[in-house]
Amino acid sequence: MSQAAQDWNPGAYAKFRGLRLRPALDLLAQVGDVPPGDVVDLGCGDGAAAGALAARFPGRRILGVDSSPAMLDKAAGYAAKVKADIATWAPDTAPALIFSNAVLHWLPDHATLMPRLAGCLAPGGVLAVQMPRQFLAPSHRFLRDIAAGMFPDRFDFSQYQPPVAPAVAYHQMLSPLGRINAWESDYVQRLDPVAEGHPVRAFTASTAMRPFLEKLTAAEADPFTAAYDAALGSAYPLLPDGAALMPFRRCFFVLERP
Ligand SMILES: C[S@@+](CC[C@H](N)C(=O)[O-])C[C@H]1O[C@@H](n2cnc3c(N)ncnc32)[C@H](O)[C@@H]1O
Repeated sequence: MSQAAQDWNPGAYAKFRGLRLRPALDLLAQVGDVPPGDVVDLGCGDGAAAGALAARFPGRRILGVDSSPAMLDKAAGYAAKVKADIATWAPDTAPALIFSNAVLHWLPDHATLMPRLAGCLAPGGVLAVQMPRQFLAPSHRFLRDIAAGMFPDRFDFSQYQPPVAPAVAYHQMLSPLGRINAWESDYVQRLDPVAEGHPVRAFTASTAMRPFLEKLTAAEADPFTAAYDAALGSAYPLLPDGAALMPFRRCFFVLERP
């Protein structure tokens, strides 16, 4: 599989910009004062949150960090764009705010990762994180169930653990490090009708479906996608106009270092 084939698709991701931006704004609304220093948009993607961060922190240097060349290429509004894997990334100077919207669920071992990121902050700095917690919902569970059923040579989820814990677990994990505010929200997303397939598949195609499609040939992807569409149709019945309602749970926390 080529790097380009594995890379994110900014066009597909941006189709739901409004729905995806709202949790970022809800997260930012809970960030209070921060000390002097940079603002880091960690996993900045195509820069969806750059404008909101600049409006909230005028005059600050805002850095965009991401591992995707395609996303970084589209990203605008940053003083600098840094191509890095968050697993090994460390800032040159301690930031005032590390803001990470819809990214850290792609990284494992949060019990190590989150304290490490918090430890990168300037004194009084803030770590603000939002992650989907949708992994046991039909939209995501069907992907695993169908892939494991159709292609057991490549997919085995018998030991599966969701990558994101309940908000209370982050509260317990991070409260020794500072003042922590953790919460969850269920967003009822109304997804517009699509010309082909199910509206929920149109939403997950650019994110949760990617790791599955990366392991399938084009000939395999077609029946996989058809089975996913059919399953989605029973869990998320279409409204009379062809739209669908997709409840989507997200986990948030804001940690203020002493
Ligand atoms: C769902 S997008 C979110 C983008 C942006 N934060 C937003 O709110 O629109 C996830 C982003 O995380 C990036 N990402 C995923 N894993 C990463 C990693 N290990 N290191 C750096 N970036 C990563 C992807 O390249 C992608 O741009």
